[in-house]
Amino acid sequence: MPEASASLRTQVVIVGAGPAGLLLGQLLARGGVDALILERQSADYVLGRIRAGVLEQGSVEVLGEAGVGQRLLAEGLPHEGIELAFDGQRHRIDLAALTGRRVTVYGQTEVTRDLMQARAQAGLRTVYEATDVSLHGFDGNSPVVRWRAGGRAHEARCDYIAGCDGFHGVARASVPTGALRTFERVYPFGWLGVLCDTPPVSDELIYANHPRGFALCSMRSRTRSRYYVQCGLDERVQDWSDDRFFDELRSRLDAEAAERLVTGPSIEKSIAPLRSFVAEPMRFGRLLLAGDAAHIVPPTGAKGLNLAIADVRNLARALIASCRHGDEADLETYSARSLRRVWKAVRFSWWMTTLMHRFPETGEFDQRIQEAELGYLVGSRAASTALAENYTGLPFEN
Ligand code: APR
Ligand code: PHB
Repeated sequence: MPEASASLRTQVVIVGAGPAGLLLGQLLARGGVDALILERQSADYVLGRIRAGVLEQGSVEVLGEAGVGQRLLAEGLPHEGIELAFDGQRHRIDLAALTGRRVTVYGQTEVTRDLMQARAQAGLRTVYEATDVSLHGFDGNSPVVRWRAGGRAHEARCDYIAGCDGFHGVARASVPTGALRTFERVYPFGWLGVLCDTPPVSDELIYANHPRGFALCSMRSRTRSRYYVQCGLDERVQDWSDDRFFDELRSRLDAEAAERLVTGPSIEKSIAPLRSFVAEPMRFGRLLLAGDAAHIVPPTGAKGLNLAIADVRNLARALIASCRHGDEADLETYSARSLRRVWKAVRFSWWMTTLMHRFPETGEFDQRIQEAELGYLVGSRAASTALAENYTGLPFEN
């Protein structure tokens, strides 16, 4: 490394400044552990990504513990129920009555913005536009992370590396083949999403199962809506004018909601594929994975961001115990404990995806089974409670 400008030392190098990496940095700082964050993109690019919008009650609590709960509490919208629409009717699932818990609608972009601001205010360092990040020595006692920034090579020696760099990141890819087992399901459709500055069609989220395909009415605030329709994997965003999108959405809603839908120019429009993915284990020596780096769920259950927050909560505690007190017990069990919860969320997201979408290969028998399950779900308190319990979030340790 002849032109190295600096070789520094920190306790934890965090790769990725999405919500997982930023939250981990914040919790570690509050626990007295030193960390450096490396992010491939610019801060503006990270803030420009439109992602999820529903926080479990437990996630809200963790963000509060991290010191970034203020704006979330003031501006987040508490939701005590969701609506399932099928067969021309809407059915309310009363999350609060069934579980005593609620969820909060607050965009991932806003969570990220709050975490970035808290980090800047605390004078903590994030290197944006860090390229060629590479991970070394995590199977021994002296891991090193190298990267390039500002045209120069850098390296940091550390005690632990946290891979919070998403599905396409370098952390999971650095694990030797054979040490990792992966599980995957790719769904035969995507979601076409639109963000627009119009009042949401309903006070609560509407998940619709319709012969033309799934639709979701969500929101970011009382004046900003987020809508999705299930689409084929071969669809292209440029083929979907705003008018075409809203006509399609309207056709999948019940008459009353379709009538009430206020449309407006889209401020973002994108297609996302749907996938379930889990990598096991989530720890290799001194490298620990969290969030999308370790697992992906289809968005139907709104679990992606919440799972990342749950991983990071456990990881921060384990790293603080090790770095501050030399106690490695929680790190030893981090992977197994996280994966137990991850698989329950993977199951729930798969189940809700299967229940709410039209699959190209579905025959008449499967169709009737889906209709029976929807009917059972809204007609049975036990079945509604199972949905509500998962939707509002399982306990962190279970
Ligand atoms: N070097 C440095 N940074 C990287 C690298 C790399 N090689 N590869 C990826 N990154 C960065 C990405 O640019 C991104 O900002 O890592 C970050 C990962 O962030 P996310 O993809 O947002 O993943 P995570 O923080 O785990 O967030 C959980 O919840 O709503 C879901 O999928 C949604 O992003 C969401 C996730
Ligand atoms: C969203 O608002 O983007 C959203 C809400 C609920 C979901 C998925 C996405 O299940």
